[in-house]
Amino acid sequence: MKLHKYENYDEYVKEQTQANVAKLKNVWVRENAIQKVVSYKPFASSILCHGTRNGRELEYFKKFLPHAEVVGTEISHTATQFKNTVQHDFHEVREDFVGKFDIVYSNSFDHAYDPSKAILAWKDQLTTDGVLVIELMTGVENISRPVDPLEINYEEFKELAEKNGLRVVEKNIMHRQMSGAKNSIMVALKK
Ligand SMILES: C[S@@+](CC[C@H](N)C(=O)[O-])C[C@H]1O[C@@H](n2cnc3c(N)ncnc32)[C@H](O)[C@@H]1O
Repeated sequence: MKLHKYENYDEYVKEQTQANVAKLKNVWVRENAIQKVVSYKPFASSILCHGTRNGRELEYFKKFLPHAEVVGTEISHTATQFKNTVQHDFHEVREDFVGKFDIVYSNSFDHAYDPSKAILAWKDQLTTDGVLVIELMTGVENISRPVDPLEINYEEFKELAEKNGLRVVEKNIMHRQMSGAKNSIMVALKK
């Protein structure tokens, strides 16, 4: 596991916000990945997504689960431009999120400056039998750098999850069409 070190918190927020603004129209998430996530909890009624940029994953969740409440967090000030998105640093606890979500999903875990702090906050946002689903690029696509500080492989993720009161129950590899890149989707439950 490798973690990029920032001078201070303001530098972290600045890096994330600059990249967010520059890539505001980009969409990383794929619909088939969200379909897969929904298959782990097909009757979910509340879903929280972390690091959502323009909110595309929220739209995909709504497509598969139209009656669910779907909320996204985004550190950048651009959050206010997107429906159901709150400006919030996903490392921090929000009392109104605690114990509330059947699915907590993120494809932005590699943007965590403190992976233990983030994963602990996310675990506490789950309902008793909720699922935490993390989607990450694998291999050479996941390199620690100022915009994506966390480089972590599956074994390291499993260990981190275990240390923070979670058990990883499933891992799936998703193939991204066109680019040929592979992502891992990891599913964890509260111990
Ligand atoms: C790789 S993009 C993914 C965007 C979106 N999920 C997608 O699939 O298109 C990562 C996003 O996470 C946001 N982000 C980074 N650090 C964050 C944090 N600590 N809390 C909330 N959002 C964060 C970034 O601003 C950026 O918009």
